[in-house]
Amino acid sequence: MRKKVRAAVFPVAGRGTRFLPATKASPKEMLPIVDKPLIQYAVEEAIEAGATKLVFITGSTKRAIADHFDTDAELERALAEAGKDELLRSVQDIVPAGVSCIYIRQGEPLGLGHAVLCARPAVGNEPFFVHLADDLIAGSPGCLAQMAAEYARHGGGSVIAVEEVPRENTSSYGIVAVDEDQRITQSVEKPEPEKAPSTLAVVGRYLLSGDIFDKLENIGAGAGNEIQLTDGIADLLQEQPAYAYSFSGKRYDCGNKLGY
Ligand code: UTP
Repeated sequence: MRKKVRAAVFPVAGRGTRFLPATKASPKEMLPIVDKPLIQYAVEEAIEAGATKLVFITGSTKRAIADHFDTDAELERALAEAGKDELLRSVQDIVPAGVSCIYIRQGEPLGLGHAVLCARPAVGNEPFFVHLADDLIAGSPGCLAQMAAEYARHGGGSVIAVEEVPRENTSSYGIVAVDEDQRITQSVEKPEPEKAPSTLAVVGRYLLSGDIFDKLENIGAGAGNEIQLTDGIADLLQEQPAYAYSFSGKRYDCGNKLGY
């Protein structure tokens, strides 16, 4: 039977080298868009989609993220005393009641697939969202809520957000091939344009079956000598369906300077 998706995993342990020196001591997920850091947009999108357990996979220099989602009693007291009620609410509402945050250290950035595997003790054998905060998607409802609806429509499996990209850019993405029902038939990490099975690129939103963990445990290092989530998905779809989902909304790749 289809389960409700309650856990959302935020891999935030990457090095963010493309944003150095800004990311030397502070994570790229804390880069602000006006008055909110990228990771807060991510959390809001997951909560809108029904997530109540937020699992952050963190590394060194990521303490600011835990601080951001923690209560700051001193700050709240100062805002209350100054009568700054609206600002007070804006810090109190960052994590609503009933939503819990779990932090797991990745230790070494061995790849996105490895980061997701680190979430296993917190997620268990349940379906879960994976959200890459540096892919900011503006849209209403949010991308994860759209994917939860798509998951309900299929009655299970996994759902992976995709977007068409120019063929010359396939080597920057996981690329999938699909059949007429949007069921994924092939998943390849960063193929060269001439080898790419399509131009459908995986973007930073996934709704995955808990069975992915066994797959991630058994795949070795892939492209870039990292444990790739794309390779885990390739194994998973040998046994159960994964569907590509073309979301509505505009994506900004905030992992590179121009997109940001
Ligand atoms: P990227 O490769 O885009 O991010 O990983 P990066 O390594 O942080 O950035 P650059 O390329 O050096 O500038 C995609 C996502 O996966 C997470 C990153 O934090 C990012 O959200 N990630 C990647 C991990 O959490 N652990 C890893 O080992 C690798």
